[in-house]
Amino acid sequence: MGSYKDLREFVAMLKDQGQFQEIDVPLNAARETNELQTLMRYVCDQDGPALMLNNLEGYNTPGIPMLFNPFGTRERTSMAMGMRDPLETKLEHARLMTAKDEWHAPKILSRDQAPCKEVVIEEKDIDMRKQIPHVWFGKEQPSFITNAITVSHDPETGERNVGWYRYIQFMDAEHPTGESYTEEQERRWLAAFFWWNPVASHIGLHVSKAHKMGKPLELAIACNVDPAIHLASGTGLNYGEDEFAYAGALKGEPVELVKCDTLDIEVPAHAEFVLEGKCYPEEQMLTGRHSNPVGYYDVINQFPCVRIDHITHRKDPQWYATMEMVPPFDHNYIALLPVEGEVLADLKPKIPEVIDVVVTPNMGYIIQLSVDGADKPHVEFGKYVIHAVWGSAGRWARTAKWVTVVGPDVDPYDLKSVEWAVMTRVQPYSDTIINKSAQAMVLDVSAPRSEQFGAFNSEQIGIDATIKIPERFKEYAPVSNATPEEVAALREKLKGVLDF
Ligand SMILES: Cc1cc2nc3c(=O)[nH]c(=O)nc-3n(C[C@H](O)[C@H](O)[C@H](O)COP(=O)(O)O)c2cc1C
Repeated sequence: MGSYKDLREFVAMLKDQGQFQEIDVPLNAARETNELQTLMRYVCDQDGPALMLNNLEGYNTPGIPMLFNPFGTRERTSMAMGMRDPLETKLEHARLMTAKDEWHAPKILSRDQAPCKEVVIEEKDIDMRKQIPHVWFGKEQPSFITNAITVSHDPETGERNVGWYRYIQFMDAEHPTGESYTEEQERRWLAAFFWWNPVASHIGLHVSKAHKMGKPLELAIACNVDPAIHLASGTGLNYGEDEFAYAGALKGEPVELVKCDTLDIEVPAHAEFVLEGKCYPEEQMLTGRHSNPVGYYDVINQFPCVRIDHITHRKDPQWYATMEMVPPFDHNYIALLPVEGEVLADLKPKIPEVIDVVVTPNMGYIIQLSVDGADKPHVEFGKYVIHAVWGSAGRWARTAKWVTVVGPDVDPYDLKSVEWAVMTRVQPYSDTIINKSAQAMVLDVSAPRSEQFGAFNSEQIGIDATIKIPERFKEYAPVSNATPEEVAALREKLKGVLDF
């Protein structure tokens, strides 16, 4: 199992594996340019390497190099757990979600052992316009912090939550209705890109409870952390379960934390930056346009304000920036592997015929079974699996708009193969389920919207692309194809003659 103290060690490993490149060519990160989004398009379409952008222009902190595209492939996301194969990785991720005896309580370091404390910026000196990198992607009106995990505690029970959420920064941000943000807001305010009323995440529940209790929510934002912590923060564990202890299971050893200077919250000791502050839900900030993972901009949104009271960082800090746009983009896979793990952890124990759950970068769900046709355990088994996905644990699968169930001879990572199964095994009326009353994926632009929450209610389609024995046929036409083993053997035979 891979264990990296911090994101730097992960990047050093990528370098050793030939999956990392330093870029000294000047690139422009200013809002009026589109070079970073263009770079994201280019490298993600080519399954390109992780990059360190050393020479950004139009950038408020030119001394801070910017990590780009570290998780841009399924393989690199697996490497965050010291593995390579996506299915093996997600099975291990899923297994560890319930193997509580393999979770490790975090180790607490003293202040002087923690690199994230090397430089301290006290409240009176905070000016994020000079201290925190601001980069723009595409036509986004504010710039985002996208590299940060947030630690907060349930204001009633004290239980910890760690989640990966974006934050909106106000330096040079355009206001969506033409007003302007104040200097104080540019200096030390953020808006938290999470919905809290109604809640759509565990931190949303913390904010909501704090609001009812009439107090702000204390939170700590840690930037660029150990990839196991990033992965755990993107995982929807059961409410109250500790993502740091689960990250310890993903690493095979405890993660190292240190206490915040101004809050009773512990954060990853090897983070590059730690921002300590409070969320004030009654102070709603209007922000927009933001570019979202569905590949569209929203125009205007309303999020709770966060005021930063204290900052610490490393001496020569680094930054990591990613963005959401038409998929695929860098963090698709580190966001989707946890969802695949959540669904597998739920389905596997009750439906052992489930081999793999693949969530595509567009958030289509493909479920591969080990059986098909007459070997299915009962009539309409494919439809049972569709319902099980919609009813499975975690935050996202209930919003799965498109679920396709396939047999073992279909490659769930290859949409050509999935399409072949749909075209040759599905009758659209009989083999699909349309559910008209589902929770929407909150950023789905095709679903009806509520003012406060974004997309609200959605319809869903489940496609049973298994072979319809016994439902419709006694036997099915035999498949005409060469096996992958036959192709590999012939490729070997033609080596040096036909290499492509
Ligand atoms: C790079 C990245 C950015 C994310 N940004 C957000 C966000 O802004 N808001 C949000 O609600 N979820 C976001 N997510 C998804 C959450 O991290 C994920 O649903 C996680 O399980 C939430 O933790 P929780 O279940 O403890 O609330 C993001 C995920 C990744 C990988």
